[in-house]
Amino acid sequence: MALLIPELIRKKRDGETLKDAEIRGFIAGVTAGTIADYQIAAMLMAIYLRGLDHRELATWADAMLHSGDVLDLSSIDRVKVDKHSTGGVGDKISIPLAPAVAACGLAVPMVSGRGLGHTGGTLDKLEAIPGFQVEIDTARFIRIVDEIGTSIIGQTARIAPADGVLYALRDVTATVESIPLIASSIMSKKLAEGIDGLVLDVKLGTGAFMKTRERAVELATALKAIGEAAGKRVTAVISAMDDPIGNRIGNALEVEEAIAVLRGEGPLDTRELTTQLGAEMLLCGGACATPEDGAARITGVLDDGSALEIFRRMVEAQGGDPRVVDEPASILPRGRRRTTVTAPASGQIQAIASNEIGNAALMLGAGRRRKDDPVDPGVGVVIHRRRGDSVEAGEPLVDLIHNDHGVDEATQRILAAYNISPPQTTDISTDISTQPTSRVLEVMR
Ligand code: URA
Repeated sequence: MALLIPELIRKKRDGETLKDAEIRGFIAGVTAGTIADYQIAAMLMAIYLRGLDHRELATWADAMLHSGDVLDLSSIDRVKVDKHSTGGVGDKISIPLAPAVAACGLAVPMVSGRGLGHTGGTLDKLEAIPGFQVEIDTARFIRIVDEIGTSIIGQTARIAPADGVLYALRDVTATVESIPLIASSIMSKKLAEGIDGLVLDVKLGTGAFMKTRERAVELATALKAIGEAAGKRVTAVISAMDDPIGNRIGNALEVEEAIAVLRGEGPLDTRELTTQLGAEMLLCGGACATPEDGAARITGVLDDGSALEIFRRMVEAQGGDPRVVDEPASILPRGRRRTTVTAPASGQIQAIASNEIGNAALMLGAGRRRKDDPVDPGVGVVIHRRRGDSVEAGEPLVDLIHNDHGVDEATQRILAAYNISPPQTTDISTDISTQPTSRVLEVMR
């Protein structure tokens, strides 16, 4: 029976629930282009205001998932798990994580995204490696995952096409920040990878979509509910996204830090988040008994070089220059100039607003303001002083690595990002230095 679209919109507007057939019919119309944009936009606003209940959400996400291709990875014997992050600043974790989990025996077929606004994207980072291809066909992707254990590629137009239509309309109708719409958007794409289990890193803080613990838990709960309704094992990790992750922000700079982690080195927080998320992936895939056991295994493959070896093979299989593993600084592109931003006053660093650090990198050309903007792979921010550190006026806070573009704006953003308390109030320092280093705030298994 043909659906009356205005009637569906009215039902949702008035807070009624939609039947499964109505939801599936609506998403089919979105995908086929038979429902007008203004009607889709009205439905999105009705959902934004009224929400979707548990069943509606599962059906909405499942209809979006089946609007396109679902990968068939049944030819791969290993258990298949993936990780998705809701987006952070300096979040290069997927790059060491996927090879580390593969080195522990699971398969990690990862379909990643590009950066938008102040957050970066894994694909842009990997493309900083000369020759690295993220647009490879499905057969080759499956072969690489089977042979090496992991491959990281971009989304194809055939994965969840309904999301492309809905997301573009959400972006221009003030309906992006809706938990059921965000959750179904993310999960329709992740479930299309044909995985057995998924670990979600839900970011919380000044640099994240979710600014309060309540909202982060709400999003994590919705994401888990969709995955579990689809028969998958899903773990949601809520992690702090106030100050940036690690010391380097910008595409090639982040690859360099990721390689350091794969060598058993790198900043403590980047390494620790990799280990904690890796442990959850192993647990989710049944490859370890406890998170402690999982963490020990991930630490082992980072320290003994086996994760680095998988990364080298993945880079080579995807057309990239494998020498990047041994001599990253000479293979990766690097902005021609370095400008140091110094502390305007002495004191202790109380906070570093990661969204402003992300914006500084964006001003230098590391990110994109609009979806199709090009990125400059070699530019970004190298952080010298972190939260809790004491500084004297005139000491370096960060270095901007750039190509003579956007330096003044970036400098302003860096100065706005650093909250430095005057020296006489350094008794607060006890509060800062005793804060746990772990970014993981909560794990929902
Ligand atoms: N990421 C997505 O893929 N979709 C959203 O709606 C928000 C973040």
